[in-house]
Amino acid sequence: MATAATADGVAPDGSPYPDRRRPTFEREVRAMFTHIAVRYDWFDHVASAGNDYLWRPRALWDLDRFHDGHPLRRILDVGCGTGDLTVLAARRFPRAEVFGADFTGAMVARAEARTVRDGVRPRVRYGRASALHLPFRSGTFDVAMSAFVARNLPNLRTAFGELRRVLAPTGTLLTLEITEPPSPVINRLFHAHFDRVVPWLGAAVHSAGPYRYLPESLKFLPDHDAMLALLHDVGFERVEARRQSMGIVTSYLAGAGIPESRARHR
Ligand SMILES: C[S@@+](CC[C@H](N)C(=O)[O-])C[C@H]1O[C@@H](n2cnc3c(N)ncnc32)[C@H](O)[C@@H]1O
Repeated sequence: MATAATADGVAPDGSPYPDRRRPTFEREVRAMFTHIAVRYDWFDHVASAGNDYLWRPRALWDLDRFHDGHPLRRILDVGCGTGDLTVLAARRFPRAEVFGADFTGAMVARAEARTVRDGVRPRVRYGRASALHLPFRSGTFDVAMSAFVARNLPNLRTAFGELRRVLAPTGTLLTLEITEPPSPVINRLFHAHFDRVVPWLGAAVHSAGPYRYLPESLKFLPDHDAMLALLHDVGFERVEARRQSMGIVTSYLAGAGIPESRARHR
């Protein structure tokens, strides 16, 4: 598989091909999600062989078991994309207001369109925002979550710091990500699919760049232990990881770890 993006962030078929070594990386990521917004949902289902239908509900189930019983009134979904997790969260937590934030206008527009006729609509709002500079006051949310976003961020520490900042002292973080399966056999099968089949499918729909970038982006995500250490380092507590599908995806869960006394001065 080719690994180097072209100098201008464009694959030979003209589709965006982000490269995190360039200073324009964030802009390239946004261009990529603008390009794939129209086919994001169905490609996701095909590329994951339908498993993504299970991953997000299961992550919310993990969240429900992890958080300490405080009522969930305000939930933030960062990098909400087309609103899959946002809407599922609104359904699962019927007393919560859920805010979906994403820096790609085309993804937000699709999230709006898919939610418009849903019964949860009155409790769901969407807006454009960067994960690195969230436009919310400190301590606003009971849950801050993100799914399949971390790999795309130029600075994961800053993003986790922002997610922690907007959490209430009793708040919970949920991050769902594609991860390396620990079993060598499963890992080999996973990489055969992720590194070869997915880019091939991407090229077939004139999106060679995005779906070559996808397996490459996984290399920049901290491994299981490093991710737990990073979350501790940023200040989260009770940090846990729960694997799904033999470790192909992992939910990272953590408490905000903000003492009530300090929260009053934020
Ligand atoms: C792979 S999609 C995941 C979408 C959704 N969370 C889901 O579960 O399907 C990643 C999303 O993160 C958004 N994103 C990437 N980097 C971001 C950033 N720095 N700030 C805000 N959103 C970002 C992209 O625009 C895209 O919609």
